[in-house]
Amino acid sequence: MIGPGAVLGVLGSGQLGRMFTIAARRMGYRVHTFSPDSDTPTGQVADVEVTASYADVDALRAFASRVAVVTFEFENVPSAATSVIEALAPVRPSPHALHISQQRAREKQFLADRGFPTVPFAVASSREELAAALARIGTPAIVKTAESGYDGKGQHAAASANDADRIWTTLGGQALVVEKRINLQAELSVVAARGLDGQVVQYPLFENRHRNHILDLTTAPAAVPTAIREQATGIARGILEALEYVGVLCIEFFLSTDGELMVNELAPRPHNSGHLTFDAAVTSQFEQQVRAICGLPLGSPELLRPAAMANLLGDLWAEGEPDWAGACRLPDVKLHLYGKVTPKAGRKMGHLTAMGRTVLEAQDRVIAARDALLR
Ligand SMILES: Nc1ncnc2c1ncn2[C@@H]1O[C@H](COP(=O)(O)OP(=O)(O)O)[C@@H](O)[C@H]1O
Ligand SMILES: [Mg+2]
Repeated sequence: MIGPGAVLGVLGSGQLGRMFTIAARRMGYRVHTFSPDSDTPTGQVADVEVTASYADVDALRAFASRVAVVTFEFENVPSAATSVIEALAPVRPSPHALHISQQRAREKQFLADRGFPTVPFAVASSREELAAALARIGTPAIVKTAESGYDGKGQHAAASANDADRIWTTLGGQALVVEKRINLQAELSVVAARGLDGQVVQYPLFENRHRNHILDLTTAPAAVPTAIREQATGIARGILEALEYVGVLCIEFFLSTDGELMVNELAPRPHNSGHLTFDAAVTSQFEQQVRAICGLPLGSPELLRPAAMANLLGDLWAEGEPDWAGACRLPDVKLHLYGKVTPKAGRKMGHLTAMGRTVLEAQDRVIAARDALLR
């Protein structure tokens, strides 16, 4: 067990690392963060902010030699970096889990090989393969870069197989994944954690609404039939076990209009849809990550009340500083800002959480609070 007082290392320095750090420091741990940037959301609250390239072996070694365990809040850390670190400190979740989940094609193949339901997909690495993949999967389809996509970046819709040329010209030169476009009834997510001893806990199912491919609103618990909930829970547990996972994992699901549940993607870390656990659960997803990587027993994932989370994107700053007092005036609303200096359109700057007696009340409150920012 890695006890309070020890130093935890975080690769990456965004808002996920920031909230992890807040949870860790509350429990008496110290935190060092490593990324190429400075004055970062994580660095602002960590004990030490290391600014260096993920390719800087000396800097990685120095970082690893000062911490008891290393985790990541950003899954595009090169595997060469985790190999360097692994020789000096445990990396949790494992570099193996990171390797699988940081490349869409590999992740989907891993899931499909083990019988987990995925969106129908095909992999393409040339113009000809892309045309063939579109013909095989059928259109409408979505073409995604296999690596380093997030918040819908690196995605193109294909209306017909004739779009192959145009899409290859914009995205080409790299591995692509073609997915069938699913008619969505709902998007759901399971945030789950697995401890060093194999203990598994799962938060209630979350329901997610996206705007322009970016998460906009999460509500919990999701209003879905028990059979869907049980299916999602079973799949999540199976994936954690198949990966011999240690830490917090998010499984994003699509529920089609036909009632079919499919895994969309995995996030090997706390997830935006789990942010509401910070205020609305007995144990937040960030504390859960601390506990898991330190070998502590996991905490209760129980929700205190129905809850909703609304993301605050940089677009909200278009007309100047949002009216923070307006949002804070509403009952049961909590404001989280990530300390990012420049608000850009589509950039996640913070979020609001609201609780209520019902999911609908929580949702109405969080939307009213976000609207109040612009008054
Ligand atoms: N195959 C698909 N069918 C329908 N909608 C999709 C599909 N793929 C992506 N989307 C939409 O785009 C969002 C972002 O895609 P996702 O694959 O999760 O990438 P990211 O890594 O950017 O989160 C999804 O949450 C969903 O709203
Ligand atoms: Mg996603």
